[in-house]
Amino acid sequence: MITQNTIQQITNRIDIVEIIGEFVKLKKRGVNYLGNCPFHNEKSPSFTVSPSKEIYKCFGCGKSGNAIGFIMEHEKYSYVEALKWIAARYNIEIEETQTTPEVKQQQEVAESLFILNAFAQKHFSTNLTETEEGRAIALTYLKHRGFRDEIIKKFQIGYSPEAKDDLTRALITNQFNIEYAQKAGLVVVRNDQVMDNYRGRIIFPIHNQSGKIIGFGARVIKSNDRAPKYINTPENEIYVKSKILYGTYFARQAINKYDECLLVEGYTDVVSLHQAGIENVVASGGTSLTTDQLRLIRKHTSNLTIIYDGDAAGVKAALRGLDMAIEEGLNVKLVLIPDNEDPDSYVKKIGATSFREFVDVNRKDFIIFQLEVMLKDAGNDTSKRSTVVNHVAETLSKFNKAEDFTKQQDYVRQCASILKIDEGGLTNLVNKLKRERITKEESRQIETIPSPAVTENDSVAPSDTSSLLVDDEYQERDLVRALLEYGLLQWDEEKTMAEYIFEELEHYHIENPDLENLFNVYKDYYYKGLQPSAKTLLYHEDPTIRKLVIDLSVQKYELSPNWDAKMEGMNINNRDISRQDVLMSLNYFKLRKIKKMFDENQRDLEKARTYEEQIDMIKIHNVLKVEEQKITQLLGTVIFK
Ligand code: GTP
Ligand code: MN
Repeated sequence: MITQNTIQQITNRIDIVEIIGEFVKLKKRGVNYLGNCPFHNEKSPSFTVSPSKEIYKCFGCGKSGNAIGFIMEHEKYSYVEALKWIAARYNIEIEETQTTPEVKQQQEVAESLFILNAFAQKHFSTNLTETEEGRAIALTYLKHRGFRDEIIKKFQIGYSPEAKDDLTRALITNQFNIEYAQKAGLVVVRNDQVMDNYRGRIIFPIHNQSGKIIGFGARVIKSNDRAPKYINTPENEIYVKSKILYGTYFARQAINKYDECLLVEGYTDVVSLHQAGIENVVASGGTSLTTDQLRLIRKHTSNLTIIYDGDAAGVKAALRGLDMAIEEGLNVKLVLIPDNEDPDSYVKKIGATSFREFVDVNRKDFIIFQLEVMLKDAGNDTSKRSTVVNHVAETLSKFNKAEDFTKQQDYVRQCASILKIDEGGLTNLVNKLKRERITKEESRQIETIPSPAVTENDSVAPSDTSSLLVDDEYQERDLVRALLEYGLLQWDEEKTMAEYIFEELEHYHIENPDLENLFNVYKDYYYKGLQPSAKTLLYHEDPTIRKLVIDLSVQKYELSPNWDAKMEGMNINNRDISRQDVLMSLNYFKLRKIKKMFDENQRDLEKARTYEEQIDMIKIHNVLKVEEQKITQLLGTVIFK
């Protein structure tokens, strides 16, 4: 681990214009710099770098971040790798903390496995092209299937010969540790005898994000009923199946560029599509996608297109991951390849251009696809049809990000129309399921996060808590934004804006967990005397915090400095609006929360059984009313939705 001290030194030295300027031609435009976005194709520049905020943002594709984030995104580096790059750029010496012996041991094993894999890959590649057996059996096979030399080289495809110990001998000669070679899956031990694991197979190396080899997929050449078609590396320190998608290393740039990731089943599908010039493609290995794999995709794009052959098994496997994909905020489309073909054979059959067209024309929305498949199965059976309705509602209730809300409503409309049911009814069902899940999750977290929003666990609860939860996120965001922006300024002679906000918020609660977390981190820094601000928190170790800070501090429209010249004497840019901004954000926040409390109180009132209970509720109502009036007066005229 890099020490805090070094990170501090690095972040102090960072000049974002200088760093991004190494990759993008930037021109000064007002207080900011402008250039052509390196992450998408554009003709007129919309890529903006703000030296004062130390962030960049592209108003074309939406990418944004700090200098470290830029290096990570542009160079495909990890956080640590990006830090190291910047340190080297500024000649800062890196101090690393002592790691625990276990971590160190693990790193050493990982390092050894990488070295072994790199060695094995070279060995397999040499076997394929430089030996008679390789050329006669494996290369001929690959050529026969239409793979050309460049693509074989690019994907580092190789061959493991029939002999029992071809690789084993090479490993021993080069004094490799055989125990590690076993861990790497390169050799196996049978009856005390060490032998090669992938005998007589075509080898597909599997790369991690930085292009290092973490494992292999080995395909039989001669069809043999007894042997499995593929053998894969066993799970080890560097090969964790649930986190791997074959081809990501080669696909990343194209995925960014097209803002879409194609997902196929097999190794050969990926290689063939690449050969045809379709590079934004990765393979799942035919199993259903894991959350980690979905997140890997989500890092680059929110558009996932699954291209499978029409056979039921593959599609079923993919369907199983659908709800998870929605939770991760992915738009999932499906393309089915006809006639017992797979993408590999199909692209070879019809050519790259037709294949692209085919994908474009046949992209089907996955949620709608699923619905249609289930409806077809259900036929006219009423009870089966109602199961379908429930299933769809369940799926639609998985939309949980605020920005996905309109998407969800669109789907409700479409699905209701396909199902020929009432749209309002489906909306209610979706919201009910959502509410139930939120309640369940909250009661699971209740010990750690006390939340005032927990509704009672009865089935009638009529009001829609979930949409309310979505609704007040805006006010929560705005308040945290104001805190980041002005917290350190003075509110009055006695206290800072931050202190004022903390005081005022004593009886209120920020419900969005990320915002709440950022708020608490801010508070913690503040009371430790660390002078928190958007700028310092921009380099926080937690990536969710970094991202949120960036989101909150980027606004599309900034006042042009020309205004001051135009409206002479009015001093528009330098006018201090901090106090007003804080006041507005805080009070709109409170109003929103009070509105919510009104609703809750109203619901309680409807359920109240005794007269005394009702009186209590009415008292609460009145207190809230008074509070609301106070705030409304403070805000002047308020238009409140
Ligand atoms: P070709 O038949 O050569 O075109 O290979 P393919 O990669 O297209 O294989 P297929 O369509 O049969 O299977 C799709 C993917 O499922 C493969 O790429 C593998 O990742 C995985 N797979 C298929 N068979 C096996 C197997 O026997 N063992 C393992 N571990 N994975 C398999
Ligand atoms: Mn195939």
